[in-house]
Amino acid sequence: MENYEVLPPSPGKHNMDNYDEYCKNFTWDIVEKEFSWYTTGKVNIAYEAIDRMVDEKGKGATPAIQYYDGKNETVVTFAELKAQSNKFANVLAKLGITKGERVFLFIPRSPEMLISFAGIVKAGCIAGPLFEAFMEEAVKDRLNDSAAVAIVTIAGQKNRIKKDEIPSLKHVIVIGDDEANLAPYEISYEKAMAEASDVFEPVWLAKDDPMFLLYTSGSTGKPKGVLHTHEIMTGMYHTMRISQDVKDGDVFWCTADPGWITGVSYSVWGPWLVGIPTIIVGGRFTPDNWYHALEKYGVTNWYSAPTAFRMLAAAGEDAPKNYNLKLRHITSVGEPLNPEVIMWALKAFNVRVHETFFMTETGVNMICCYPSEPIRVGSMFKAIPGVECAITDEDGKVLPPLQMGNLSLKKGWPGMMKAIWNNPEKFNEYFANEPWFISGDQAYMDEDGYVWFQGRNDDVIKTAGERVGPFEVESKLIEHPAVLESGVIGKPDEIRGNIIKAFIVLAPGYTWSEELGEELKKYVKTGLAAHAAPREIEVVDKLPKTRSGKIMRRVLKAQDAGLPVGDLSTLEDD
Ligand code: WTA
Repeated sequence: MENYEVLPPSPGKHNMDNYDEYCKNFTWDIVEKEFSWYTTGKVNIAYEAIDRMVDEKGKGATPAIQYYDGKNETVVTFAELKAQSNKFANVLAKLGITKGERVFLFIPRSPEMLISFAGIVKAGCIAGPLFEAFMEEAVKDRLNDSAAVAIVTIAGQKNRIKKDEIPSLKHVIVIGDDEANLAPYEISYEKAMAEASDVFEPVWLAKDDPMFLLYTSGSTGKPKGVLHTHEIMTGMYHTMRISQDVKDGDVFWCTADPGWITGVSYSVWGPWLVGIPTIIVGGRFTPDNWYHALEKYGVTNWYSAPTAFRMLAAAGEDAPKNYNLKLRHITSVGEPLNPEVIMWALKAFNVRVHETFFMTETGVNMICCYPSEPIRVGSMFKAIPGVECAITDEDGKVLPPLQMGNLSLKKGWPGMMKAIWNNPEKFNEYFANEPWFISGDQAYMDEDGYVWFQGRNDDVIKTAGERVGPFEVESKLIEHPAVLESGVIGKPDEIRGNIIKAFIVLAPGYTWSEELGEELKKYVKTGLAAHAAPREIEVVDKLPKTRSGKIMRRVLKAQDAGLPVGDLSTLEDD
């Protein structure tokens, strides 16, 4: 095993100060008791996260949303959020949209995004948050797969929703549009909200009724819809306390977009469930904007990602010194945290960065480091209390320490996905080795049970912390007439973790040029999404393939890294 550095625990009091004791006595029941449904039996996360804060906890005047776009600021209190989400739930009810129907959100980060999210869930519908950068095809695929009946969007993005090509879609609710511009199936958000009553009784559900559907990429096929239930609230609450170490009086800022799982669990619902505001910073990322937001709100607990930290580090170690910061706990997710980032944060903020690990499918943090424990730099520490982690082999056998294998989690924690929408086969693949959920990541454990992440064991690309499926990018590229075939990989990059690199075979009659390269990048950017566009394109004569014609991306990766690739004349079986 490698040598590693050990960082001593952070000073001060932390929620996990009695780690061993806490783990020994932990049961999920302890967390469930925090919720009203534990005694009433009436379940709806919107009640627990919003209405209860007003009705039972005296937090009506406490901010629930603090939105800042660099110039303007909006504050929405819990009482206002309750009233506004009631209104939105009434808007849906008036449209005849009922429990279990899919309503999508295609809105940049904003109070409206969060209000409508809350209203959808309160009405018992399934919310489908979308990343605002998605283009036509990405939007269409997700709405069609889930047979969505409605979508909420802004005037500037509604042209990316091709209603004619989405048969199930009945209503498009548009924020910020002139009434004169609205098609018959379009509804003015402002008008509908103004007319709606602010009284609404949450639709009462069972714990395992669906709450949201989030599409995420795998190594093959189109993105899959990961379905989460209201029970995720238990996992969110637990991890807000133990992994994000949030206590009364803390200011928590999760920088993730609500179109991704980190945003859903930690930018939206997690903070509300513990009665604190969610801080949403709109506009573009720049180091100054972010430092300014940290200072302005007096952020104490900050959740972000290695790529963002590396970008901040590139702005200089001294940059934070120009700001009056109150940071005491920093967490990171989405991609491996390199030691350089931890060392930078120690110098820049005098605070350690704590690794957290989870996935869209797991819903909430599964493995994390605590401020009260030493950090073995490079390790993610251990699974949270209530979750069991093991390293397993191909047959699901648990491997001994120091052997690399599949990072697996014992199924059944609150927050685990309930289904892959319309795709039980895919769902079952994750659980092929019962009782283990197989993550798709490789790791080993040391003798003390610390988990050391080693990388994906499939072709999923993590670029700037975002999950991109190579198949989607390849499919888009070959729609372009100049591209006959394509193979897409993640290429290691100092700042972004990986960048997307495409290998292409040109169609007969086409020759390579810089302009064609730019055109292809733009083609993916405008067809799919900006973050899915290749940053590098290389033309090759042919692509390495298996006997059945599947592209061998691992060979492309090896070739690209200048590693030996073996004898390519012997084609592999799948
Ligand atoms: C990767 C993101 C290294 C991993 C929350 C996982 C990580 C995938 C870490 C899920 C970490 C997440 N260190 N890699 N701390 N956390 N990952 O669904 O490959 O977008 O399987 O969820 O991100 O990505 P997803």
